[in-house]
Amino acid sequence: MTTNYSFKKHQPATMRWWHWLNALAILALLGTVLLRKTFLSWRTNAAYIQSKVEEGAGSITPEVAQNIAKGLRDVMWQWHYWIGFALGALLVARILIGIFVVKKCPATHAVQSAMGISKAPRETRITAVHYTLVKSGYALFYLITLYMVLSGIALYFKKEMGLSKDITSLLKEVHEFLMWFFVIFVAGHIAGVFIAENRGDKGLTSDMISGGE
Ligand code: HEM
Repeated sequence: MTTNYSFKKHQPATMRWWHWLNALAILALLGTVLLRKTFLSWRTNAAYIQSKVEEGAGSITPEVAQNIAKGLRDVMWQWHYWIGFALGALLVARILIGIFVVKKCPATHAVQSAMGISKAPRETRITAVHYTLVKSGYALFYLITLYMVLSGIALYFKKEMGLSKDITSLLKEVHEFLMWFFVIFVAGHIAGVFIAENRGDKGLTSDMISGGE
């Protein structure tokens, strides 16, 4: 059986809804991180609160200023958890779509594409390699999303689960570091679709909206 190395294919409605909702969840999660590290950074805001109180001839201890700044940040950060749980629900939905609708597993699809490269005619070999790299990137995306969801839930319920400080900080450091994968993935995915649309795979974006042929 020869592998079809075209990105153009019919997108079922479930997959299209899933794609855009998942994109929204990931962008929103990145947005919460951006806010936490910029406008709602407790260090910057604690210093600001302290300076403003002192300007008005009042006095405030650095601890109280920090508590106010962290309290304000935490109201926003609550969104990280709600959207995080939504991302978890979307991951479960994606597994169900994989089993019942598209009937394909991203990891096995990437492996099948790789195995088909040597059998592909010489003139389509570069396309086959490119296709395999893109599909492997998607498989990695699902794997890392799984880690983010599992580690996020574990961090959220760390007390209930009785996780040690060491485990908690390891999970958190990796969770925090892997955020960069999503930054790179989002930028690479959008750039890749732009390039593909201009090179001969016209209509990829509208297929993800209307379903295509
Ligand atoms: C694309 C997905 C995600 C990204 C990019 C992301 C990013 C981050 C980052 C950068 C931090 C560290 C913030 C800091 O301490 O400065 C963090 C912490 C955390 N995230 Fe996520 N996250 C994602 C998904 C999730 C999910 C699915 C959950 C599950 C509910 C979750 C729950 C948490 C929790 C509980 C913390 C620890 C907060 C704390 O210790 O104060 N995250 N996340």
